[in-house]
Amino acid sequence: MTPPIDIPVGITTHSRLSEIDFNNLEFGKHTADHMLLAEYENGAWGQPRIVPFGEISLSPTSLVLHYAQTVFEGMKAFKMQDGNVSIFRVDKHYNRFLKSLERMCMPAIPENIFKEGLKKLVSIDKAWIPDTEGGALYLRPFMIATEQRLGVKVSDKYLFMIVSSPVGPYYAKPLNMKIETEYVRAAEGGTGYAKCGGNYGASFLPTQMARQQGFDQVLWTDAKEHKYLDEAGTMNVMFVMDGVLATPPLSTSILDGVTRDSILALAPEMGMKAEQRRITVEELETALSEGRVSEAFGAGTAAVVAPIQSISVNGKSYQLPSWNDDNFMIKVKNKLSDIRHGLVADTKIWNTVI
Ligand SMILES: Cc1ncc(COP(=O)(O)O)c(C=O)c1O
Repeated sequence: MTPPIDIPVGITTHSRLSEIDFNNLEFGKHTADHMLLAEYENGAWGQPRIVPFGEISLSPTSLVLHYAQTVFEGMKAFKMQDGNVSIFRVDKHYNRFLKSLERMCMPAIPENIFKEGLKKLVSIDKAWIPDTEGGALYLRPFMIATEQRLGVKVSDKYLFMIVSSPVGPYYAKPLNMKIETEYVRAAEGGTGYAKCGGNYGASFLPTQMARQQGFDQVLWTDAKEHKYLDEAGTMNVMFVMDGVLATPPLSTSILDGVTRDSILALAPEMGMKAEQRRITVEELETALSEGRVSEAFGAGTAAVVAPIQSISVNGKSYQLPSWNDDNFMIKVKNKLSDIRHGLVADTKIWNTVI
C-alpha cells in the first residue's frame, strides 16, 4: 500500500445537483459536480487534485486521439442502509486497471491516487448517489496519452482522471442475442482482456448490424474457429445448463469481469455448482434444443444481471424459459445488491465503506 496522499479540493460554486431528476436517469448522461485529475510527465505522477467538473483542453496531436492509448474502469458507489457510502470491489477494479495499463504500454497509477482519489471524490459528491432503489453513482477512472506528437510512438505523458455519473435502476429488457460467427471482437494474444477504448470502437459495427437484424447484442466467439463462446459486448455471459452454472474461462480475449467473479464466488454458498470451462457453440445449441439450458444471462456492472430470452445460432433462434424470483440469476442479483447496501454481512470484504 502506497502512503496516504493529500488531495487538494476545489469545490464548485455552481452545483448542478438541483437540475437532476433522480427518478429518470439515463445511464451515463449526467456527471456529478467534481472530477479528479493527475498528470504523468518525466516518469513521475504529479499532484492529484479534485476540481469542479468541466472541460479539459487537449492538443489535436495528443497521441490518444490517433493511436488509442486509453484505458478505463467502470465501478459503482452505493448508499448503504445505515447511511454510509460504499464502493464495490475497489481492489479488483484497481488490479484490472493495472493489467489494462500494462497491456497498453501505459504507466501504472499508484494505489493511493486511485483508491484515495476515488474515496475522496465519492465523499465530496455523495449527494449525487441516488436514493432510489437500484440507484448508484457510476465511477469512471480512466487514463489517456497526452504527449503531442504525430509519429507512432508510446506516449511520454498521460492524464489520469476520475469522473462519475448518477445512474438509476437498470431495468434490463430481456435480451435477444445473436452468436457472432463472422466478425471478431478480440483474438487470443490481443487486447480483449484489457479495458481499452479500441475494443469498444471495434465492436460497434457488428453490434449495429445485429441490431438492424432485430437483436440486442452479439455473443462473441473465439477469433480462430468461431467455435467457443467468449463474452457479450459489455458483459460476461453465464448459463445454467443441466443445473450447473457455466461460464467461459478467462483468457486474453475476454474481460475479467468483476460481476462474473462475484457471481462465481457466491454461487457455491447459494447451493449452485459453478464451472469455468470452454463452451462450444455446438454444445450450447444442442443443450438449448434439448431444453437443458434453464437460464442464460449477461453479467456486468451496469445491469448486474441481464436475463437473455433468446439466442440465435446460425440463423436459428432458441427461446429460453421465462424466469421468476426463484431463478439463480435473480437470487444472485439480489444477494449482490444486499451486500452492497449493507443488508447482509459483507463476509468477503468487497465494500470499501467511506
Ligand atoms: C467487454 C466487457 N466484458 C465484461 C464486462 C463486465 O465486467 P464488470 O462486471 O467488471 O463490469 C464489461 C463491463 O465492464 C465489458 O465491457
